[in-house]
Amino acid sequence: MSDQNPVSNFALPHVKELHAYTPGFQPKGDGWIKLNTNENPYPPSPAVEAAIRSALGDSLRLYPDPLSSELRREIANLHRVDASNVIVGNGSDDVLNLLTRAFSNVEEKAGYTFPSYSLYPVLCGIQNSGTIEIPFGREMDLPLELVAECDAGILFFTSPNAPTGVGFTNETVRKLLQRFRGVVVVDEAYADFAKENAVELLREFSGLVVTRTLSKSYALAGLRVGYALANAEIIEALDRVRDSYNVNRLSQAGGLAAIRDQSYMKAIAGKVQRTRDFYYEELKALGWFTYHSEANMLFTEPINSKGEKGPTVALELFEYLKSRKILVRYFPGHALTASFLRISVGDEDQMLRLSETIGQWLKNG
Ligand SMILES: Cc1ncc(COP(=O)(O)O)c(C=O)c1O
Repeated sequence: MSDQNPVSNFALPHVKELHAYTPGFQPKGDGWIKLNTNENPYPPSPAVEAAIRSALGDSLRLYPDPLSSELRREIANLHRVDASNVIVGNGSDDVLNLLTRAFSNVEEKAGYTFPSYSLYPVLCGIQNSGTIEIPFGREMDLPLELVAECDAGILFFTSPNAPTGVGFTNETVRKLLQRFRGVVVVDEAYADFAKENAVELLREFSGLVVTRTLSKSYALAGLRVGYALANAEIIEALDRVRDSYNVNRLSQAGGLAAIRDQSYMKAIAGKVQRTRDFYYEELKALGWFTYHSEANMLFTEPINSKGEKGPTVALELFEYLKSRKILVRYFPGHALTASFLRISVGDEDQMLRLSETIGQWLKNG
């Protein structure tokens, strides 16, 4: 093939235009404080390692259970639904992908709020789906009148939201469900850190899908297990568009052990909540506007020693922290996010180091 005709020319037109999702930076080497991808600072339940060890060995010759049946049953028991109301995925990203695949295309649009999880537009791009963005204002209240006008087949809504951490009450979620005609996905990746969750609304609304992940509250981002709860007809549709073996043997075994150890999950999620609430007060004491968070992150607007704030100040602090091996996340792309930094909640020592380093930045500035 000649250089004038590169192989990539055969890619579909919408694929040529795609921008892949940009994950948070994963540093090499030791000594980093990683507060940039909303991972859990604590290790997963010891039962997970034991379960994975016992799943190792000869059985790896064999394909995993394509339905993740035992894990589905355990998740169903946890949420008091039927196993036919559960699907498990390779992380909740996989489940979100299946939802986009099953419920949207060029004609049947997908809606999502903004700012929110930046994977939704990427998945819609891959699917070549039409999209409708529902913008939040600075207050981050859900614009229900825009939801009512939204002419999409599926709507992605994150609660608690990312990157702000803002949680929504079931009263608000109920209003959203009453106004939107299609499938509503409430992405509850951070629900274990929040006061309320939408699971009880599944009995009332047949178009509701609740997605969850083991990556955050269960400290298992590396295992890649997520799931959705929904009406059995929706789950059947998702099963039709799923890879047959979308959750491997080790992930099914580890995920099962994690779900069974609820008291461990609640203990580490509780520690994260307490550190978050303590650190929220610290940021407030600095005079920095910070959204009240029900997740494991804080979205804060830094002010420098001259009393200035804005995108230049946020970027400067981001770079300063990085130069001292502390990683947080900066989203420069939009006026609502560009003056802010998103700080994942770490353990107490990590947050102390962060405070000291912010103190040095303020002193040196
Ligand atoms: C809102 C939201 N949903 C889903 C995910 C992805 O979770 P998983 O690791 O299960 O794919 C994330 C990860 O950061 C997230 O922020």
